Amino acid sequence: MNVLITGITGFAGSHLADYILENHPDVTVYGIVRWRSRMENVEHLRGKIHLIEGDIRDYVSIRSVIEEVKPEIIFHLAAQSFVPTSWKAPQETLTTNIIGQTNIFEAVRELGLNPAIQIAGSSEEYGLVYENEVPIKESNPLRPLSPYAVSKIAQDFLGYQYFKSYGMRIIRTRGFNHTGPRRGEVFVTSNFSKQIALIEKGKQEPVIKVGNLDAIRDFTDVRDMVRGYWFAATRGEPGEVYNICSGKGYRIKEILDMLLSFSKVKVKVELDPERLRPSDVPVLIGDNTKFREKTGWSPKIPFEKTVKDLLNYWRERV
Ligand code: GDD
Repeated sequence: MNVLITGITGFAGSHLADYILENHPDVTVYGIVRWRSRMENVEHLRGKIHLIEGDIRDYVSIRSVIEEVKPEIIFHLAAQSFVPTSWKAPQETLTTNIIGQTNIFEAVRELGLNPAIQIAGSSEEYGLVYENEVPIKESNPLRPLSPYAVSKIAQDFLGYQYFKSYGMRIIRTRGFNHTGPRRGEVFVTSNFSKQIALIEKGKQEPVIKVGNLDAIRDFTDVRDMVRGYWFAATRGEPGEVYNICSGKGYRIKEILDMLLSFSKVKVKVELDPERLRPSDVPVLIGDNTKFREKTGWSPKIPFEKTVKDLLNYWRERV
């Protein structure tokens, strides 16, 4: 069986490739790479996966990749995924995320293929959530607070619409925050870990720059998250939407304290106003009952291990 991963050189995409190679040796993994993609996350997979050049924003290239691979499953993980960038570059975010996905759907439709397609939505789609709505179910209203969130809602609804209109086997996942080794350095857990690793090596003065430490997020280890993506594609119901999350919320301040507890450095914590957002989502804690009941998935890796692994990842790199 051939599977195609968009975003394979990224954080979740590379872990998904690892998961499939380890657990489903009968599967041939294909991934799409842009000509300028950074390859470090898939360096260890050279010779084990097939990388084909393409760009989800370019219909012709995507159609030709899908025609060549004829995948039985497509995992659509490629995206502009950093929330703050979506305020600085809203058009680019909307184009990459919404039009990029439309190109995949249209290519599949025009080629007359019928793969299962997992699309990576986000807990950001829920946006503003009231206290009495936590833990958040899939049926919660969506009140987006960033262009990124709007782009993910559009992807989500296009998934629903293409399922309804054409019977395409699209499974929508709403992944809550996930982290672990290879996490991009702009994201909070990775950014704090990198700063601590730099301070440990004497390469940064002992001051940690932070943004809003009061936000609460529900974190899952990326290795559990990608197993969730596999379960969604292979056991999920086409047309349905599933939260993938741990159900436990951490204040960002608690995560910083946890990271610092794994290190001997003494630091000063300093607010960097540049890191504050025009509107930040205050709390995201998910209810994963629907997904667990449908697929049997549950998170396995404790958050402390995730955070330690991430800190060690940066210790080896700075
Ligand atoms: N990035 C960053 N840097 N965030 C900080 C910082 C900092 O220095 N200090 C505090 N924060 C707060 C942010 O304001 C936010 O409330 C929280 O930490 C998490 O920020 P990110 O790690 O940037 O992730 P996110 O929650 O905005 O988005 C991530 O999770 C979504 C799922 O909920 C991304 O991975 C999205 O692509 C994903 O959809």
